[in-house]
Amino acid sequence: MDADTDALRNPALRRDLAVRAAVEQGLLDAEPLVCLLDTAGIRASAAALTSAFAAVTAPGTPVLHAFAVKAAPLVPVLRLLDGCGLGCEVASPGELALARAAGIPAGRTVLDSPAKTTGELREALALGIAVNADSHQELERLDALLAAAPSRSPLGLRINPQTGAGAIDALSTATATSKFGVALRDPGARAGLVRAVLDRPWLTRLHTHSGSQGLPLPLIARGVRELHALAEEINAAAGRRQIDTLDIGGGLPVNFASDEESPTFAAYAAALREAVPALFDGSYGLVTEFGRALLAKHGTVLARVEYTKTSGGRPIAVTHAGVQIATRTVYAPAAWPLRILPYDARGTPKTGAPVAQDIAGPACFAGDLLATARELPGLAPGDLIAVPDTGAYFFTAPYGYNSLPRPAVHGFTAGAAGGVRFALARPAQSAAELVAEAGGAFRDALL
Ligand SMILES: Cc1ncc(COP(=O)(O)O)c(C=O)c1O
Repeated sequence: MDADTDALRNPALRRDLAVRAAVEQGLLDAEPLVCLLDTAGIRASAAALTSAFAAVTAPGTPVLHAFAVKAAPLVPVLRLLDGCGLGCEVASPGELALARAAGIPAGRTVLDSPAKTTGELREALALGIAVNADSHQELERLDALLAAAPSRSPLGLRINPQTGAGAIDALSTATATSKFGVALRDPGARAGLVRAVLDRPWLTRLHTHSGSQGLPLPLIARGVRELHALAEEINAAAGRRQIDTLDIGGGLPVNFASDEESPTFAAYAAALREAVPALFDGSYGLVTEFGRALLAKHGTVLARVEYTKTSGGRPIAVTHAGVQIATRTVYAPAAWPLRILPYDARGTPKTGAPVAQDIAGPACFAGDLLATARELPGLAPGDLIAVPDTGAYFFTAPYGYNSLPRPAVHGFTAGAAGGVRFALARPAQSAAELVAEAGGAFRDALL
């Protein structure tokens, strides 16, 4: 392998090449904000996930890695992951439509969501995609639908192992009072749950999603251990292996502090093997639903600094990246800190004495800040800021405040000679589209 090819294994170098190429190829000429996705990085993460589980799972065990579409609801991303052998976990009719548009086969699609309508359930059963029911009431709806029309959908039930919260309350799914799944530890709940499964021979899967950003691996693994123990209890009571598949969800946290990818999928697989050795012995097929850990590290927001000023002695760089692409960071900065990487107008990394400055977005409210008092080389109008680690739940889940348009997303591939090829994955939202989505065709409707 030559030195150039070897260097391209470094995601930070690929990002630097892409930033410079974005300037040179004029991506920022038409718009002051673009989003970049590193396709080699996405492929590498998909391969790391697949090999981490293959390394610990008994040969021949069916394993489906279903990408959580909510993390990056972009058809070209789903198609890229499909090519890596992954499926899709969808949690709304819109996400199902995206998975279908990407050509994801029914056999690699899983429908979750706590609020599926009867119509959504009917469609899923007709398509034959896997469905995880979220409640006893949803099971009753499935009873009625299956009585009306048989289905080849694998059907499961989501449980809440109630193993506890992590550092971010809003993302903790396995708390005592979480809205997700059937609570396992409430008085009488376990017996009722076992009964509900035994009464429904078609219920062959159990599901949990006990992890998320801010949770330590052993706590996530404890939720999966509860899932496995429940499946064993049900199968013993059934006198047969009624539960044949465990869907362990996603929830592997991501490191937002540096370019290091940690914890790795291999570390998570090892933590699971330690906590639940029998999980991988081939008794159960496995489904995973990772989102953030597959995409986050491979997305970068690139925005122009439009103006700089000083207020109360504090330097402020006013950029085009704000609440519309980093909603969680703006509203909950302590929970969702992002790195800011400075570049000059030519796309070269900017160096210089650090100055504490605020990095502001374009939205019209005071809190629209990506960073406060951040030590960075002094920024000037025309400079660029890159915001790495934003490939999941950031620019892929834009927020329409101030009618700020959804920015364009470009995939990029860096070649051995340092050349970068961009491929448009989502165009920027045009003013005409903004008007149309704001009821432009119904201008006189309220007169
Ligand atoms: C049921 C379910 N599966 C998978 C995921 C993906 O989680 P993550 O992106 O943390 O891997 C989520 C996230 O909300 C979820 O609710």
